[in-house]
Amino acid sequence: MDAQNPLSVSPRQFAASGTLMIRPLVLKPQWMNGLSERLLVSHYENNYGGALRRLNAIRARLATLDWERTPVFEINGLKREELIAAGSVILHEIYFDSLGGHGDNPPTGLDEPPAGLAEALQRDFGSIAAWCAEFTAMAKALAGGSGWAILAWSERLGRLVNQWAADHAHGLPGATPILALDMYEHAYHLDFGAKAAAYVDQVIANLNWQRIGARYRLAIGEGAGEDELFLPFGAPAQEEVRISGEELKAALEVDNDRRPVLLDLCQPRDLPRRHDMLAGASMHAPAALPRWVEELPRDRPIAVYCICGFQVSGTAATELRRRGYDARALVGGITAWHAIGGATVPLDTSTYEEAP
Ligand SMILES: [Fe+2]
Repeated sequence: MDAQNPLSVSPRQFAASGTLMIRPLVLKPQWMNGLSERLLVSHYENNYGGALRRLNAIRARLATLDWERTPVFEINGLKREELIAAGSVILHEIYFDSLGGHGDNPPTGLDEPPAGLAEALQRDFGSIAAWCAEFTAMAKALAGGSGWAILAWSERLGRLVNQWAADHAHGLPGATPILALDMYEHAYHLDFGAKAAAYVDQVIANLNWQRIGARYRLAIGEGAGEDELFLPFGAPAQEEVRISGEELKAALEVDNDRRPVLLDLCQPRDLPRRHDMLAGASMHAPAALPRWVEELPRDRPIAVYCICGFQVSGTAATELRRRGYDARALVGGITAWHAIGGATVPLDTSTYEEAP
């Protein structure tokens, strides 16, 4: 990752305007075990994205508030909703970050916590199995209701704790969540109906212990240099080769010759997963790059996107820059674009190349 922007995809990133920027999915929603792409993408776009949009709207409202003249009930309402939305955003990000395999490999369900976290779980719960039994029982006990099951590091208690949370704003003071399991019905109903216990077991089988371990090391002050774990597989490591959805949205509102040219890249096997695109984009097959690359203008910025911003757009943006184009890959792809409320039009495949 770019040493000058080590936190470019971290939850601490804010845009210059004070907008909290979306985090991309680092799991591949089509490669999970027993959790469908439909469920995960709907959850990410509608519930996580909804919380983020709500939080940004509340923050914009708060920024213009006359604190001396605003009625107390309005201040109370806004600050309450701000806390709930911010809690929802942060816990959803920890939830999605905690799931997934690596690259195109689905999670095996066999990986165990890395050494430091494994020792801490043994120290604080007796064994990893004992921790898991408590954590899953706590999550399953929330079935039919809503809330979060959280594994957190408490500096004051000097240990890891399994913490129940009745809502998005219910946390052990001073503790740092390192794993969060969403028990709101929207997290499982599409796949599991009312079978919340089966959902909990499936989440455990999809955990990415590498990233959970990295969060633990950050929580205890020993983490460093692991930002790439939280970048989608295949996304460009350099900040200047990426463009955020928020940045692209602003750039597209400018009607001049610096308006980005939009390239929608999709592998043939992924076409059935697509139903819409950004207005004005032209769609191409990545493998046919030599056939479409010369049509691109050299005097305009180019924004390349794919479904989730993994290697399809990452590889293409890097190759276009190698050929001298001012290309950047959209962080999180069209999935993150949906989640920030970006407009789309129905998919147009008329420019898509047939197989060579
Ligand atoms: Fe959720």
